[in-house]
Amino acid sequence: EEEEVVEEEYLFKVVIIGDSAVGKSNLLSRYARNEFNLHSKATIGVEFQTQSVDVDGKEVKAQIWDTAGQERFRAVTSAYYRGALGALLVYDISRCSTFDSIARWLDELNTHSDTTVTRMLVGNKCDLETLREVSVEEGKALAEAKGLFFIETSALDSTNVKTAFEIVIKEIY
Ligand code: GTP
Ligand code: MG
Repeated sequence: EEEEVVEEEYLFKVVIIGDSAVGKSNLLSRYARNEFNLHSKATIGVEFQTQSVDVDGKEVKAQIWDTAGQERFRAVTSAYYRGALGALLVYDISRCSTFDSIARWLDELNTHSDTTVTRMLVGNKCDLETLREVSVEEGKALAEAKGLFFIETSALDSTNVKTAFEIVIKEIY
């Protein structure tokens, strides 16, 4: 009995990266705890949450890591990426500078992990339509060029948050 349970458990590491204040921590808290914080503080170091997902009737556990977008608050980079099987690269659709940074985040990911990592480009804050600086087409085009999945999300109103994480987790599985 015991052994069978162990055999059927999967634990996947997924990392979230992107510039400061794009909403990485709120995407994770929305997904893992259905919580959103309008005044969240910048992350210092690394935090993670473990989330169980049902995939084809099997329990898959995703250990989702969140780190600081700000260089001065980041922990040892190689340790953060070690063993990751999935990555969410997040930008803020209302700040094009965060979209321009994606190439740099992708370089860092590629340097510290292998190319088989499932990668999802995430345009967060899609609730801020009136402040939009990055079009859906630009997001899609970048994702296509770099071989990434693509989705727009809102941690504020929950749009596509579950879907973003679960596409990555199911693809890994
Ligand atoms: P660092 O930890 O510094 O790297 O930032 P972060 O990427 O973790 O950003 P965080 O989740 O702390 O969010 C930054 C700010 O954006 C906070 O004020 C959030 O409330 C806000 N925010 C996050 N997600 C959304 C969203 O989907 N829509 C809107 N309108 N605001 C959001
Ligand atoms: Mg954070």
